[in-house]
Amino acid sequence: MDGRLEGRIAIVTGAGSGIGRASAKKMASEGAVVVVNDINPETAARTVAEILAAGGRAEAAFGDVTIRTDVDTLIDGAVERHGRLDIVHNNAGGGTTVPILDMSDEHFLGDIELNLHSVFFGIRAALRVMVPQGAGSIISTSSGAGLGAVPGLAAYGSAKAAVIMLTRCAAVEYAHTGVRINAIAPGSMGTPAFGQWLDSMPVGLAGYEAQIPQNRLGRPEEIADAAAWLASDESSYVNGAVIPVDGGCWAKLASPKFD
Ligand SMILES: NC(=O)c1ccc[n+]([C@@H]2O[C@H](COP(=O)([O-])OP(=O)(O)OC[C@H]3O[C@@H](n4cnc5c(N)ncnc54)[C@H](O)[C@@H]3O)[C@@H](O)[C@H]2O)c1
Repeated sequence: MDGRLEGRIAIVTGAGSGIGRASAKKMASEGAVVVVNDINPETAARTVAEILAAGGRAEAAFGDVTIRTDVDTLIDGAVERHGRLDIVHNNAGGGTTVPILDMSDEHFLGDIELNLHSVFFGIRAALRVMVPQGAGSIISTSSGAGLGAVPGLAAYGSAKAAVIMLTRCAAVEYAHTGVRINAIAPGSMGTPAFGQWLDSMPVGLAGYEAQIPQNRLGRPEEIADAAAWLASDESSYVNGAVIPVDGGCWAKLASPKFD
């Protein structure tokens, strides 16, 4: 362990799978005590077991991030058990592809609840603890779909774009308190959720990867590395930032091709 987060108390939501699991494991490997949240208690327990087996410290905390009282309980419970809270990674989220004309009210509102309300609940509850502490790092997982339009992801993309503005507003409002608030916009990661989505698309994996400047999907561990850096003092002057971790996708101008 190299201990950049030694002794810090961290919460990662949606940490039973994919990016959240990788973030929880990375933060634990850096010395943090990690509260592993998920709506699925079995996968949360599995992540905890993996962290403990690697010599880290972690505990599972069931909770649905779309329910404000669950998020408040998650954060207040961590503070009651550990006396403080240093890092919150609002990561749980997801969405499915539906064209706007086929999109029900329930689908639209469901994506907004899962991807935006959850982050608002998490940021607000974390600020209640971190502002009086005078320190803390809040990280939220946005998406490349919140930076540029992806057909079929209008609801999910709108929520992820709002996460970016929520991050900026919160950072500017509370920068003077010592709390830093940033977001990561992942490109296409090889997680189970993304694999399922790609399977439902005609392009296929090779055709998809050919369009990514680095010619490959990302790994959840590559988002976890960015999250751990944002959680650490090495990013002490980074605030209100949205970091694309996407193999160059966001930098690539989506203009008509000449060749
Ligand atoms: N995978 C990608 O390519 C990609 C790209 C951009 C952004 N993202 C974002 O990254 C985050 C993680 O995605 P992933 O690919 O690791 O997904 P995943 O499906 O592998 O993991 C998501 C986890 O969140 C949990 N979860 C779902 N709803 C929850 C709720 N209401 N409360 C608590 N936990 C809940 C799930 O049980 C699951 O363990 C999401 O916010 C997603 O939108 C992913």
